[in-house]
Amino acid sequence: MFHSEAEQNSLESTRHSRFISGYADTTLTIQYQNDLEIIGVGAAGQVYAVNEHTVLKACRIYEPPSPNATARVLWDYSSETVFHYVILKDEREVLQLLADHPHPNIIEVIDVDQPEGIYLRKYQQFSDLMPAPQMERILWYQEILRALSHLHELGITHSDIRIDNILFNFERHALLSDFGASCPFGYPNPSLLLLMNGVSDVVSDVTDRFAMASMIYELETGGRPDISINSSKELYFPTVQTGDVVLDALIQNAWQGSFDSTLAMLRHAEKLGYGRDIRQPTMHSVSKTELREQVLLWRTGRINKYGCVLFSLLTESQIQALAERYGWQPRRATIWKPAPTAPPHIDKDQ
Ligand SMILES: Nc1ncnc2c1ncn2[C@@H]1O[C@H](COP(=O)(O)OP(=O)(O)O)[C@@H](O)[C@H]1O
Ligand SMILES: [Mg+2]
Repeated sequence: MFHSEAEQNSLESTRHSRFISGYADTTLTIQYQNDLEIIGVGAAGQVYAVNEHTVLKACRIYEPPSPNATARVLWDYSSETVFHYVILKDEREVLQLLADHPHPNIIEVIDVDQPEGIYLRKYQQFSDLMPAPQMERILWYQEILRALSHLHELGITHSDIRIDNILFNFERHALLSDFGASCPFGYPNPSLLLLMNGVSDVVSDVTDRFAMASMIYELETGGRPDISINSSKELYFPTVQTGDVVLDALIQNAWQGSFDSTLAMLRHAEKLGYGRDIRQPTMHSVSKTELREQVLLWRTGRINKYGCVLFSLLTESQIQALAERYGWQPRRATIWKPAPTAPPHIDKDQ
């Protein structure tokens, strides 16, 4: 079940590669949740539709192992459960901060205080808006740079900028989403091996601008940039030819770390603002207060019907007990790692 040592190291040094390979996760079954429609599945968990205005982002919940499960299965269950719990806990912290410091281009938090997960306003995904002309895409880049600039002023990085993590409201404004990898400046770069955030060991505004450049490149050319690295950690970038030299320079400067700040990158992107923005301003037909009330009613309905909001959700003290059993100290997901190999008393072939 374990991967080669090199693969194993890679799995443990970045959370993304860990998920991509399906590490431990493959031995476990995801808990089915009655009457809940999944509208998104990401690296960290599931996103369920609560109603037409709200979603619930829950961490990945697995079916609890049977009483006669092997030590190996118990270990996988514990490792994955604690890992996902920590990611959601981190995201909750960041979203709490953002609820206190909202921004029009950052997803709106409806309720961050419920144990089963985080309730968010529901938005559209990129695929729902396709095809979009370049003029509109440029407005999105500016909006995301405004959101990033706000985040960076709070001393926080996003650390996972890519199109899956950008959502859109019904007036087609772009919003920065998914704060599962978000962390303070100076934390370890969670996707170092994939070069998503460049070659820096730690994240900062510079690494977010690097990822932003790659996302713009992808949206403009239709493919991920082929960025490679040599043994002296020098990066090689593809030629950028979007058809607009200002846009080309935006991407190249951000890759090369030439912008002093995210605001400077935004100012550059604003030079691209030709054409008129014909979109309506953002208007919410239902207020956050009303949505929060709906959430509370919805939760009560599920508890009355099923005895819980989500099946097999562990409490914080149960998670703590699982972690203690294996001697783990759950910290921030970006730096927390389960033991590199199973403890010696576990038969890996089971
Ligand atoms: N507020 C939302 N409204 C609509 N869809 C969402 C919302 N939040 C997330 N999703 C969908 O769920 C997917 C996974 O959510 P995300 O927050 O990116 O989690 P992960 O950390 O697991 O990647 C997203 O790519 C998106 O398709
Ligand atoms: Mg995501």
